[in-house]
Amino acid sequence: MAQYLISYTQKLSGEVMISASKNAVLPILAACMLTDEEVLIRNVPLLSDVENMCRILSLCGAEVKRENRDVRICARHIHTPAEQEILRTMRASVLILGPLLARCGETHLSMPGGCAIGQRPIDLHLKGLQKIGGRILYEGGEIRAEGKLTGGSIYLDFPSVGATENLLMAAVLGKGVTRIENAAKEPEIVDLCQFLNACGARIVGAGTANITIEGVSRLHGTVYTPIPDRIEAGTLACACAVTDGSVLLQGARSDHMRALLFKLQEMGMILQEDEKGLRLRGKARHPIEVRTLSYPGFPTDMQSPMMVAACQVNGLSVFLETIFENRYMHVVELGRMGAQIRVEGQLALIQGGVPLKGARVYATDLRASAALMLAGLCAEGQTLLIDENEHLLRGYECLEAKLCQLGGAVVRTS
Ligand code: EPZ
Repeated sequence: MAQYLISYTQKLSGEVMISASKNAVLPILAACMLTDEEVLIRNVPLLSDVENMCRILSLCGAEVKRENRDVRICARHIHTPAEQEILRTMRASVLILGPLLARCGETHLSMPGGCAIGQRPIDLHLKGLQKIGGRILYEGGEIRAEGKLTGGSIYLDFPSVGATENLLMAAVLGKGVTRIENAAKEPEIVDLCQFLNACGARIVGAGTANITIEGVSRLHGTVYTPIPDRIEAGTLACACAVTDGSVLLQGARSDHMRALLFKLQEMGMILQEDEKGLRLRGKARHPIEVRTLSYPGFPTDMQSPMMVAACQVNGLSVFLETIFENRYMHVVELGRMGAQIRVEGQLALIQGGVPLKGARVYATDLRASAALMLAGLCAEGQTLLIDENEHLLRGYECLEAKLCQLGGAVVRTS
């Protein structure tokens, strides 16, 4: 259990280093099981989701060694994990499905659970595997996947990030050519494809809706550094927007953050990109409209931090969450602080300009927890954020320490 005491902070200033992307590192770690040679992943963030994925790879028989900020992996002999309880604790564990099927020709995994933000089905993953030669059976809460993958054409009804990643990893080994249409275009997809191509895969079209994978007989090892975390950078950018800041986000890739940065500029922030990263100045002053979409649209992971910025400005802001069915749980907690937000289905109407007041609030999911920490920075008095399931530690590397580094009054009290 983690608790954070956050006090009103007038200004944030200074510079902070952006960590590598959780959502790039997780599929890349899974993809290390596609080669029997050693892989070194550099600058791997210290996150509980990452440690869980490393534990899952070990359960699959891979040798996994953390060396400070690097992780060395050798998946010479891999197998389906016997112990599968851990798979239920992390949605991203479904990403071992593609590599295990590609390397072993069969696997059986317990159905990944949903989570607070939605049911999180994997029908698109499974339908895609069937299109390229996989056979899928459901047995008592488990998925059994088997068969020699021989390539084919897949159309994704929705540009699912996880489905695109699983299918990419399933298709890189073996014979045949696989085409994925309506693929996800997130920067994390591009990073996974760059990693796989660095291991000898033949993938073209990453970052577009149409990706073609030519199967190869085997992959070799490599040394790879994942991209910076655009959601961590975006969260810190929103922290600047709610506290009238002047900050440098070192290493941030603004080309991965265009939709968010346009919205922050619409709200009145001043942005400057230079070789060191992304500089932001000023504070949110104008209401906005936000519709979450697949990349390059506004990222759903930035919806809750952005809503805190909308609470700060006079006027009505309108949010439409189109990706997950239950991603407004932070609204109840912001309401405890005096926020005037009305949710109508996937629509949220934020009547901003009402000063937030410190309160005892509860973390419900990863990004909502970060949003509540930002709310504490701009609320009068003190806010106690109770994070019973340590959501924050799953996806942010010492967020409270980074905010402190910028002058934020945030202390982890347990
Ligand atoms: C990835 O989740 C990210 N997680 C999420 O970040 C992110 O919010 C999401 O992509 C959207 O950008 C990781 O990369 C580890 P999806 P993923 O498959 O792959 C539906 C965070 O906070 N869907 O694109 O699970 C699904 O229910 C996390 O870092 C199906 O219906 O997202 C959802 O409504 C949260 N069937 C929508 O698509 C499927 O087979 C988007 O899901 C797959 C997905």
